[in-house]
Amino acid sequence: MREIEFTNTKEKVILKFFDRTSDIFKDLVGKKCFFVCDANVLSSHPSMASWLDKSKAIKILLDQPEAQKNLESYKKIIEALKKHNFTRKDYLIGLGGGATTDLAGFVAATYMRGMRFIQIPTSLLGQVDASVGGKTAINFEGIKNFVGSFYNPEQIIINTEFLSSLNEQEFLNGLAEVIKHAIISSEESLNEIFDEKSAIVSREPETLSQIIDNSIAVKESIVSEDFNETGKRKFLNFGHTFAHGIEYANRMQPILHGHAVVIGMLMASTYSEHKGMLDAADLEKIKQVIGSFNYDFSNINLDVETIVEGMKSDKKNQSEKITLILLKGIGNPVLHEEENIKNLTNFIRDFTENFEK
Ligand SMILES: NC(=O)c1ccc[n+]([C@@H]2O[C@H](COP(=O)([O-])OP(=O)(O)OC[C@H]3O[C@@H](n4cnc5c(N)ncnc54)[C@H](O)[C@@H]3O)[C@@H](O)[C@H]2O)c1
Repeated sequence: MREIEFTNTKEKVILKFFDRTSDIFKDLVGKKCFFVCDANVLSSHPSMASWLDKSKAIKILLDQPEAQKNLESYKKIIEALKKHNFTRKDYLIGLGGGATTDLAGFVAATYMRGMRFIQIPTSLLGQVDASVGGKTAINFEGIKNFVGSFYNPEQIIINTEFLSSLNEQEFLNGLAEVIKHAIISSEESLNEIFDEKSAIVSREPETLSQIIDNSIAVKESIVSEDFNETGKRKFLNFGHTFAHGIEYANRMQPILHGHAVVIGMLMASTYSEHKGMLDAADLEKIKQVIGSFNYDFSNINLDVETIVEGMKSDKKNQSEKITLILLKGIGNPVLHEEENIKNLTNFIRDFTENFEK
């Protein structure tokens, strides 16, 4: 078990690693708990489902967590908490991918002005990204994460056993954030991912625990310096402005966010090299690491004009400029306000023409 502390808010978040799913519940015996659960996780992990059935915990199941990360589910959970006389001292537990834990976190943040909250993220993206940093949210009128708050859980419980039931592309979706954390932190972290690629792909538990722990440490250290995202936290957006444009170009047939981020990181790294900021050798290393995983980009639309249109609408932009996170080296991200949209568009055109899906 490792403890982490978000110093800006003076709150402690305890991070626990468990080897066996059954151990997770030992700490919860005797506590009044309400579970917001991803139904897919329970059907893939029957032992967990049966523990929940036997326990006195109240639970609500989400069949399609992203589609249900909305006001209706929020209201339903609040009503159930009230009906069962939950107080601020009782526990709300989010068990599932990022959509489930975001929704659970927003309920926990607002029920009676904040109740006790535990995250049990079950997707790789949830474990290394969504559960860390205190952002909670629901979608509203089709706009992602439009309503939300910053609220830390008391505990984040990680168990790599959950990851065995994720399909390959969902697993790689989360790995995009692991690679991102490595690129913005150090060459050593990126080398570790490359050296351990076979163990990662075969989901070897010890290796996964190690890379998840490292990845969380990167996000945690950035967030603890800048909880409310006024400075350094923006580095976590590396690859994301390009990704936002790519997701916009694919909005009719949405793609996995991590896949857009991977292409976005390749674009941001290549653009950094193009601008003379990043060494060719560093760019090659980034390409080599990403290229060693089996990302399926075959159905991704890379229409240049639409990508740029999407990038312009990114909420991170100041006025007419496009805000990018570029690299001066591996482990050395910098904020860049791009004024020359024509140059950027030409770069994206060259990139997409040469990109092998
Ligand atoms: N709060 C934050 O800082 C933050 C950061 C990044 C992303 N997010 C949010 O997280 C969400 C994306 O997270 P996600 O990729 O986990 O999406 P998700 O929660 O929708 O899960 C993706 C799919 O995997 C399934 N799943 C989850 N765990 C599983 C398991 N162990 N076995 C089998 N299937 C499993 C889910 O049922 C779903 O079908 C988005 O809503 C995004 O906005 C939040």
